Amino acid sequence: MNIDVLLGLQWGDEGKGKIVDVLTRDYDIIARFQGGPNAGHTLEFEGLKHVLHTIPSGIFHTNAVNLVGNGVVVDPVIFMKEIDALTAIDASAPDRLMISRKAHLILPSHRLLDAASELAKGKLKIGSTLKGIGPTYMDKTGRNGIRVGDIEQPYFEEKYRQLVDKHLQLLDNYGFDSSELPELERVWMDAVERFRKLQLVDSEHYLHTQMRAKKRILAEGAQGSLLDIDFGSYPFVTSSTTTAAGACTGLGVAPNKIKRVIGIFKAYCTRVGSGPFPTELFDESGERLRKDGNEFGSTTGRARRCGWLDLPALKYAVEINGVTELMMMKADVMGSFEQIQVCTGYTYHGKEIDHLPYVTDPDFLESQFETLPGWKCDLTKLSDWNDAPQALKDYVSFIEKYVEVPISLVSVGPDRAQTLILNS
Ligand code: GDP
Ligand code: IMO
Ligand code: MG
Repeated sequence: MNIDVLLGLQWGDEGKGKIVDVLTRDYDIIARFQGGPNAGHTLEFEGLKHVLHTIPSGIFHTNAVNLVGNGVVVDPVIFMKEIDALTAIDASAPDRLMISRKAHLILPSHRLLDAASELAKGKLKIGSTLKGIGPTYMDKTGRNGIRVGDIEQPYFEEKYRQLVDKHLQLLDNYGFDSSELPELERVWMDAVERFRKLQLVDSEHYLHTQMRAKKRILAEGAQGSLLDIDFGSYPFVTSSTTTAAGACTGLGVAPNKIKRVIGIFKAYCTRVGSGPFPTELFDESGERLRKDGNEFGSTTGRARRCGWLDLPALKYAVEINGVTELMMMKADVMGSFEQIQVCTGYTYHGKEIDHLPYVTDPDFLESQFETLPGWKCDLTKLSDWNDAPQALKDYVSFIEKYVEVPISLVSVGPDRAQTLILNS
């Protein structure tokens, strides 16, 4: 049996959590393949609003197992807080949750290193969520990391101490005050004790067995393609492979097993943190998108930068991921605009180009826009795509024609129910 992949095509926060939740009824397993608690995936249903950071977004459905894959980095403190928030709603949720023994652990000293690194970068800081993501993936590729499976082994404490000693030397080099570490460590070790009792598994073996048993599997991505370590706006990216290839390495699934690749994008663009954003708006329209879209980070609460939809960037993400179908989020947020701008190309050093160049310095790169009519209505009560306003249908067709991939779903509100399926 094949697996499907769902991922974000922009700079994250596209609405992946909502869609995974909507699609879970059709799957037996939801498997997160990368990232960590830098993610914030929001689900809304039956008057409940819930933000997940490390736990896959299928957890509220009783029909599916949720797996945290080997490509994910886990902070036991944040994980156990998530568990507590979940069990307050549904005590049986941990029974449907498994964690890969090969997933790497975020140590308290990784968090301090993240902060020290950002501080040292000054104006060039990434705008990291400061969850320790970068330092943890650095220790993974540097072959120093501690994995979930290590907490079951007798050498765990010794291995932990060795790595922390290394981190303390690095923090010293930064001149960073690490006096809060002992208290952070105490809380972390307590969380590890509880975390140990969850279902820790050999996840790739589990997935292969389930695939042979013809179980339906959906791989859930975090962040977005433009934050990918290789293909994002480097160095203003996260430290993992957020693109479809990450589902293979982050779960142990072969490329020829991937079938649907579902690309999630907003009807406009947002970005949190630093880095280039060619279609960013600094005027009233940007302010309106932020306000109407409630564009404030689910993890850090920071205001998200807002701009028009960037089609060359979207097409780039579609190609890198081999997207087979698109889902467009937050169409309702644009309901007050008389006219909508869409970026269809750039001028780079005065020359017209249709792709993102290596250097995206705004002094040399200018977005070229086409203007389309807005739909000027409230979409949040819409329940049938056939009743959608023509201007919205035209917007969808315009995007499909440009990126050459069909849009199969349009989201018109944060709730699970505010979801339109396109039948064409
Ligand atoms: P994720 O990280 O991709 O899962 O996205 P986030 O949860 O960080 O951010 C998406 C935000 O938009 C959340 O607050 C969602 O509840 C909300 N949202 C998702 N889809 C829609 C939609 O179609 N319309 C509106 N207005 N909000 C939406
Ligand atoms: P979800 O899964 C939006 C951004 C940070 C920063 C950069 C690096 O909710 O879409 P990191 O903490 O990884 O070192 O931060 O990446 N970033 C996100 N932006 N959504 C996310 O996740 C993000 N995860 C990281 O703001 O610019
Ligand atoms: Mg998010």
